[in-house]
Amino acid sequence: MNLVMIGTGYVGLTTGVGFASLGHNVACVDVNAEKIAQLDMGKVPFYEPGVQDALTMVQEQGKIVFTTDLKSVIGGADIIMLAVGTPSTRTGEANLEYLFSAAEQVGSLLDHEAVIVTKSTVPVGTNRLVLEKVRKGMSEAGRAELTSLINIVSLPEFLREGTAFEDFHNPDRVVIGADDEIAAQTVAKLHEGLDAPHVITKLESAELIKYAANALLATKISFINEIANLAERVGADVRDVAEGIGLDKRIGPHFLRAGVGYGGSCFPKDVSALAQLGGAKGYTFKLLSSVIEVNNRQREIFFKRILDELGGVKGRRIAVWGLAFKPDTDDIRESAGVDIAQRLHAHGADLAVYDPQAMNNTRRVLSDHVEFTTTAMDAARGAEALIVLTEWPEFKEVSFEMLRENMVGQHIFDGRNHFADMDLHKRGFCYQGVGLGTCAS
Ligand code: UDX
Ligand code: UDX
Repeated sequence: MNLVMIGTGYVGLTTGVGFASLGHNVACVDVNAEKIAQLDMGKVPFYEPGVQDALTMVQEQGKIVFTTDLKSVIGGADIIMLAVGTPSTRTGEANLEYLFSAAEQVGSLLDHEAVIVTKSTVPVGTNRLVLEKVRKGMSEAGRAELTSLINIVSLPEFLREGTAFEDFHNPDRVVIGADDEIAAQTVAKLHEGLDAPHVITKLESAELIKYAANALLATKISFINEIANLAERVGADVRDVAEGIGLDKRIGPHFLRAGVGYGGSCFPKDVSALAQLGGAKGYTFKLLSSVIEVNNRQREIFFKRILDELGGVKGRRIAVWGLAFKPDTDDIRESAGVDIAQRLHAHGADLAVYDPQAMNNTRRVLSDHVEFTTTAMDAARGAEALIVLTEWPEFKEVSFEMLRENMVGQHIFDGRNHFADMDLHKRGFCYQGVGLGTCAS
């Protein structure tokens, strides 16, 4: 099949490369000329395991092209997929400006039967508006008679950054929302070669499935974080509690890791968009307000603990390990690492930060007065305290003996319980995780 993918961000590019690797002909379009030039030369502009190798392969096979010019590739398209960003506005609603402008542009150029697919995460009801925009663009271009040949399908993504390419090839399910059965079947066919159940449903249901899935996962995280806070007060270990409840098949073991809370491009945005949607429809989604509040409070609690334990951070050397919102990505959107680093900086700490992948992105948002080091150990050298905010595997490989010698203080505040099993208190550290108990040096 011929697929045009509009938007080459984490989702659009990974999905485009994925469909090309299934044998489809994919044309990726983006307004960012620099990004397209880079991709055309075979270079993935962000860090996402597996995507670079797969891109090289599908480029060699001639299965994928990159352009800023939609007109040049829309001609033979069976499916046009929209994967432009839908960031949150300041009030928490999804900003659909880019999506609608892409839809109108598609309409202004489309002159044949095609299925429009929305991959971007959008509020319930948006797919119908996207279809209207495409048809409006067609009518304005003098092709009103063709509008009935155009259909819309909602195809939400469930890719986790860091394992996005693997998730593309091994999805738990493919959710297809459509009014038109043939359009739904066309999109189902695009997924041939992937072994996953298909949930074919109404547009609105597909749109809601995406938000409901992310909101429930975020709820699990806020729930376990509240249990962690309670565990500290009663002397329990949240990791054992999580294991004990997670073995119940009705609950499941996933998304029960306590810490400084969730970040990233999806959870904060989607949970708040779903809460907003409730408000707009006259329904107060009480649970979600608490999920958001708990997540924000989790960072406050963590930060306050650092201030309390150290008696303030002004003028004191503090190391931060981990700036990406999770391991195996360079993405820092809504990252707890960057947030805590900013708070430390605002309180006058002398900061040294390190992340294996997210340094370039972080330089754009953290002040010049912060030291960016080339290794984790360099950041820790001379530090009174070390704050761990992303559970990168390489952090476990450092020599803790050397770390102890290099640091002038002994505090490690671990926002991901990454070192919780490493007996650090026995190695001379005052180690504190989340939900594990207090300083045990
Ligand atoms: C995607 C989805 O769009 C979002 O709805 C979902 O919730 C998460 O995943 P992501 O791929 O992470 O977002 O976005 P981003 O990395 O910001 O990429 C968006 C791309 O669209 C950028 O390359 C941008 O240049 C491009 N774009 C944006 C267009 O091509 N046209 C536009 O009008 C606007
Ligand atoms: C998420 C969804 O998982 C994916 O299906 C959707 O399409 C996009 O949003 P992503 O944001 O890439 O994926 O990462 P995810 O692994 O879900 O983690 C999100 C945040 O939750 C991270 O900050 C992570 O550190 C945090 N998290 C995750 C926890 O704090 N505890 C957990 O148990 C799991």
